[in-house]
Amino acid sequence: MASQAKPQILSDLSCLRYLALFLLLSFHVASGAGGTWNLLLQNVGISSMHSQLLYNDRVIMFDRTNFGPSNISLPDGACRDNPNDLVSKRDCTAHSVEYDVASNTVRPLTVQTNTWCSSGGLTPDGTLLQTGGDRDGERIARLYSPCDDNSCDWTEVDNGLAARRWYATNHVLPDGRQIVIGGRNQFNYEFFPKTNAPNLYSLPFLVQTYDKGDENNLYPFVFLNSDGNLFIFANNKAILLDYSKNTVVKTYPEIPGGDPRSYPSTGSAVLLPVKNLEAKIVELEVLVCGGAPKGSFNKAYREKTYVKALDTCARIKLNEAKPQWLVEKMPRARVMGDMTLLPDGHVLLINGASSGTAGWECGREPVLHPDLYHPDKPVGSRFVPQNPSAIPRMYHSTAGLLRDGRVLVGGSNPHAYYNFTGVLFPTELRLESFSPSYLDAQFSDLRPSIVIPPNTVNYGQTMRLWFRVTGKVKSPVKVTMMFPSFATHSFSMNQRLLVLDHVSTRRMGIWNYEVRVMIPTSVNIAPPGYYMVFVVNQDIPSEGIWVRLQ
Ligand SMILES: *[C@@H]1O[C@H](CO)[C@@H](O)[C@H](O)[C@H]1NC(C)=O
Ligand SMILES: *[C@@H]1O[C@H](CO)[C@@H](O)[C@H](O)[C@H]1NC(C)=O
Repeated sequence: MASQAKPQILSDLSCLRYLALFLLLSFHVASGAGGTWNLLLQNVGISSMHSQLLYNDRVIMFDRTNFGPSNISLPDGACRDNPNDLVSKRDCTAHSVEYDVASNTVRPLTVQTNTWCSSGGLTPDGTLLQTGGDRDGERIARLYSPCDDNSCDWTEVDNGLAARRWYATNHVLPDGRQIVIGGRNQFNYEFFPKTNAPNLYSLPFLVQTYDKGDENNLYPFVFLNSDGNLFIFANNKAILLDYSKNTVVKTYPEIPGGDPRSYPSTGSAVLLPVKNLEAKIVELEVLVCGGAPKGSFNKAYREKTYVKALDTCARIKLNEAKPQWLVEKMPRARVMGDMTLLPDGHVLLINGASSGTAGWECGREPVLHPDLYHPDKPVGSRFVPQNPSAIPRMYHSTAGLLRDGRVLVGGSNPHAYYNFTGVLFPTELRLESFSPSYLDAQFSDLRPSIVIPPNTVNYGQTMRLWFRVTGKVKSPVKVTMMFPSFATHSFSMNQRLLVLDHVSTRRMGIWNYEVRVMIPTSVNIAPPGYYMVFVVNQDIPSEGIWVRLQ
């Protein structure tokens, strides 16, 4: 910042003007409005194709078991023998790891069957339920319960599923079960744990949204609505499903332009932060971004022609009498991007490419710049481009929020093996974090820190949080609550940010405050489980705390 040119500038300007200019420049430089990237680990051993944060700040990651040796050995010198494996009949490497945020280390985990292109979510006690995969793993359910002493590992449940689930989507239900929807050649849904017959429920919507040749309806975007029904988006269409009666209660208009947004024309989607949680009808709004024009997958796959990705988002209010999509232009085209909700209520668009589609070798032109989206600003001023990473995150990359407010980014292996040479985009073992600008040191006096966190909260309860801020507190502070999501294939399943109804904010002493907020009364608004709770002062979030809602 202190440059040799300063004295000359000084000689040309009055001191006052120079000072003003200096302040302006130094603010611009230090503000870091574009966020900061950090390389966390050079090598986590596997490609982070699927990832889930647990309540003990460990992140479970896994890829697939049948595409050759990874770069991390199985625990205790174990090996996996599988005569049906496509590549290694005997594989002594791991295909799942646990990343510990606090120590920035990984340890290998054991999956025996193929987890490729599967789905998952957290149960009310914080166990990760993962469902399906390919071949020997297609009907397996796997459970992973967090532990702090590195003793835990996967448990696999044979025939945990009624049907093969490959490229399906899970959603956590208000009663703590999970619904598993679709997947390749599965035009139906089921529940985990399995119900008695019929344990498969047909879903004609997945037939209606199936594009011959390209599919374009895999990994549907699913969100739990405030009325207990499920919003399901696939390809370019959406419905509201009463899963308990297996009836479609509402059909939404087709997304304007009609281009597909689901795998392999992979866009992404989030439920925007949910507010006014005790309203008679709680309004939910979904934002869908990016994707690829119809036919792009086959052009990439067969003709090696990489069509420009879509550069639009569209958002829709689920509970309006006549819901309409509002289309907005993104700063750039993006396919295979991830969308991550941040604790301050903004949305981060990150990863992906600007041409081609999902699928091995099908993407081109990596998008290195994330974009921040401010849902409450006027149309046209919602996107703020962020600083770029140096690492392409193509097919099979993931992104997810950590409790400290950073976004963890990993994965990318756009081809079928762990090739590090001789391919356009090598398999990516590096783990990075993106720190949005709210983590900049210049905001440390505005950043709340929560003292005396509660552990367990109940529905309808008033939650009291004590926090400290050394700078100015603008009342009312916001308290947000985030359900940790399962990320794969550019979609974060179960991702949900609630802005809790504010009751009061009181000053309790010099720097000390108490905020009271309402925990929602409805399980449809907040399914049971562990949430990260943040206090947000003027868009600067505290580090989160884990709270169990029951
Ligand atoms: C991982 O890669 C490093 C560096 O290439 C290599 O030395 C090591 O043997 C590899 N480990 C495994 C388990 O493949
Ligand atoms: C990638 O690795 C696989 C398995 O080792 C090998 O068969 C294939 O030829 C490799 N591809 C390239 C482009 O090197």
